[in-house]
Amino acid sequence: MLRVVVCVSGGGTNLQAILDRVADGTIKNTQIVRVISNNPKAYALERARSAGVEGICVSPKDYAEREAFHDALLAAVQEAEPDLVVLAGFLVAIPPKMVEAFPSRIINIHPSLIPSFCGVGYYGLHVHEAALARGVKVTGATVHFVDEDMDSGPILLQKAVAVQENDTPEILQRRVMEEAEWELLPRAISLIAEGRVRVEGRKTFIK
Ligand code: GRF
Repeated sequence: MLRVVVCVSGGGTNLQAILDRVADGTIKNTQIVRVISNNPKAYALERARSAGVEGICVSPKDYAEREAFHDALLAAVQEAEPDLVVLAGFLVAIPPKMVEAFPSRIINIHPSLIPSFCGVGYYGLHVHEAALARGVKVTGATVHFVDEDMDSGPILLQKAVAVQENDTPEILQRRVMEEAEWELLPRAISLIAEGRVRVEGRKTFIK
């Protein structure tokens, strides 16, 4: 059984997609053991509770130092003894200690085709604003392993989504979620749960 901790910050639609695919058996041999939010008001915590999954908050506001927050976050993850940590809209830069503790065992979903529109400052709607400002015709989503730098780890899955002429950042964000993110993140977990993913340097191989 793959034990999974999911880290969230907001609405949690990606979390919901994961919970639904575990519930309907599409993701096999997997248990979501804990959901952690940095934001006490995240609706994702409600989604966790509704699915019977423990949802906890580790807020940076409760710690005077960033390092103490990072330690508490790592402790909350480790306590759940996960085989895999999934960042599903988690707006916290992952501390190096966490990457060291879970090498090639943390995945993230990013709402663009990496290496476009990623890295520092590219989160939430900013990603889609930048894609529209650049005038790309195709964008998408990427699931990647997390390493020491932002959005730079080995890419596991990507899916393209068409940009339309009248798109606003909000409309494009929704299409990328519906057509790519909600499909890719559950699929990534499923592949890992089935032992089908190998990471070698900056590349991944799926069998
Ligand atoms: C998604 O677009 C995800 O790619 C990004 O943050 C958003 C989270 O949405 N990193 P939700 O909380 O899963 O609804």
